[in-house]
Amino acid sequence: MSTSPWVQGAYEPVVREIESFDLEVEGNIPPDLNGILARIGPNPIGEVPPDHNLFNGDGMVHSLTLKDGRAQSYRNRWVRTEPAARKLGEETVLEQIEHTDLANTHIVPFAGSLYALSETSIPYKVNEKLETLGREDFSGFIDSGFTAHPHIDPATGEMHAIGYDNNADPSVTHYVIGADGTPRRKHKIALGSANMLHDFAATETFAIIWDLPLLFDEEAAKRGSQVPYKWTPGYEAKVGLRRLDAADASIRWFDAPEAFIFHAVNAWEERAEDGSVTRVHCDVIRRDSMFASDSTGPGDMAIPQLYRWTMDLETGRMSEEMLDPRAQEFGRIDERYWGRKNRFSVTTELFRFTGDTGIIVYDGNGGSQEWSFGKGAATSEAVFVPHSERAGEGEGYILATATDVAKRASKAAIFDAQNVQKGPLAEIKLPQRLPVTFHGSWLPAV
Ligand SMILES: [Fe+2]
Repeated sequence: MSTSPWVQGAYEPVVREIESFDLEVEGNIPPDLNGILARIGPNPIGEVPPDHNLFNGDGMVHSLTLKDGRAQSYRNRWVRTEPAARKLGEETVLEQIEHTDLANTHIVPFAGSLYALSETSIPYKVNEKLETLGREDFSGFIDSGFTAHPHIDPATGEMHAIGYDNNADPSVTHYVIGADGTPRRKHKIALGSANMLHDFAATETFAIIWDLPLLFDEEAAKRGSQVPYKWTPGYEAKVGLRRLDAADASIRWFDAPEAFIFHAVNAWEERAEDGSVTRVHCDVIRRDSMFASDSTGPGDMAIPQLYRWTMDLETGRMSEEMLDPRAQEFGRIDERYWGRKNRFSVTTELFRFTGDTGIIVYDGNGGSQEWSFGKGAATSEAVFVPHSERAGEGEGYILATATDVAKRASKAAIFDAQNVQKGPLAEIKLPQRLPVTFHGSWLPAV
């Protein structure tokens, strides 16, 4: 067995693809919650080397289908990227490519299709049965990696995304794809140095793109590292505002603290009476460093905490404020409020830091509720589902999964998003242990 920590305990891959029906439920699944919870994470095929990087494991999608108050089915499938199909000994129509070829980070519905995404790879299309349909570069439009965190503007339905590759090119591309899936425009934005850009944020007017000290490491790339980045103190960290409708490569940079961000929670803007934007706020999960002592995954003990970054367009200064010192990650909101001032958000308390995990729900007024899955559990990112399109912000359900590492057992829990501290409305016993997943989406039944 590999000595890599990223295939042990909560991260231990499963080796079987299964399908199971009519799952055991404790409590009551709301009958109006009809659809599929799809989650994806790394589940490496075969032996991994001792220096295996968490972010490089072959992607596996898990789906839980809820229907009329029943947990109808669970299914798990590897995404058949070309390398995954090869390792599984299967024939594939996909060509082997020089480009990074991975799909393990997020699964996102858009324009009638479902995409499995990893930031330095071309997107993969899968269907709701979790069958892999192939790569999708939008007729050659995507010519770099493509973020696992695209943002869909609730007003226009347009998808905004960033993309970069594992190379020394000091730039990131801003992609815009129309609500119907038609490519609109793309521009390459210059960075101070090539670096890891896992996520970005967006308001009604701006994309918020950071340029932080986790820099591409050419030597590590030459040694064959799949995630060749190193923490570089002294780098001039910046955060930039770029108009979503920019027709050129323009961006306005602000000096930023020496810190690292995987994920933003949300961003919004403040306006003057004449309608001009005066300040932009961006809630982020911030760490003091990343890969400073361990470059095989997010194993450094720099605590991820909730901060607010504010860019003042009048002074040209950026400031930051800690909102919560608890170790947490994977912020999600009611996505109808993407880019707008939100009150509701939910994050995951991280077991790596406390040995105890659960979810934290914020009310936007400084208050929060939490629910713990107990010692020795690993909780996934939580996904919010509104009661209906007309429901108020945060009125709906939260779905999260938790794995009891010692018992090697997993469950999915459904909460009333307004009453998380009361505990789950229902818990569904999953038929197979669920390794750590990164991100997921709710696919409503149509
Ligand atoms: Fe992510």
